[in-house]
Amino acid sequence: MSERKAIYPGTFDPITLGHMSVVKRALIVFDKIIVAVAKDSHKNTFFTYDERYKILKEVFNENPRVEVMQFEGLLVEFAKKIGVNVILRGLRTVSDFEFEFQMALTNRKIDSSIETVFIMAEDHVSYFSSSLVREIAKLGGDISSLVPPQVIRWFKKKTEGK
Ligand code: COA
Repeated sequence: MSERKAIYPGTFDPITLGHMSVVKRALIVFDKIIVAVAKDSHKNTFFTYDERYKILKEVFNENPRVEVMQFEGLLVEFAKKIGVNVILRGLRTVSDFEFEFQMALTNRKIDSSIETVFIMAEDHVSYFSSSLVREIAKLGGDISSLVPPQVIRWFKKKTEGK
């Protein structure tokens, strides 16, 4: 049987334990998850496109069932290029739903062979967000319960380098 794969796209500025929880739960359903960092998201990011990619590579380095990739342009085009027709997105609270609903249907409109699958993050991380992590880190707070250790090192590297 062929491998069941899904693309988990995002800005990941930075990845949090919430995103990792979605990947962990998704690996119950899929054989392989491709975590794909978007160059073109609607956000001004703190970490550059390459930094966000490098952080993810470090975080998933030891998991052979997770592959990290970068993509520019439309997500559905990237999905087609790598031959994967499932997009994975995490749902935290009801407030995520509207945006996710719009994105999933738009992606399906662009390419009807693409299906979006939603996985809920575990409840103890379901309120985490990258912007709150960035805010706490910038103000010198402790983010160790919100992100993997690699992210803490990257924040230090980035702020000390300034
Ligand atoms: N745990 C923690 N946080 C989570 C989360 C989870 N499980 N799921 C979502 N989030 C948070 C993130 O922390 C982030 O929070 P922030 O806004 O406070 O920074 C926010 O939800 C969403 O970020 P992220 O999960 O990184 O994804 P995104 O919504 O930025 O991703 C793309 C959007 C990249 C998928 C979308 O812009 C895209 O597909 N771009 C390519 C161009 C394209 O095809 N556009 C057409 C789309 S229809």
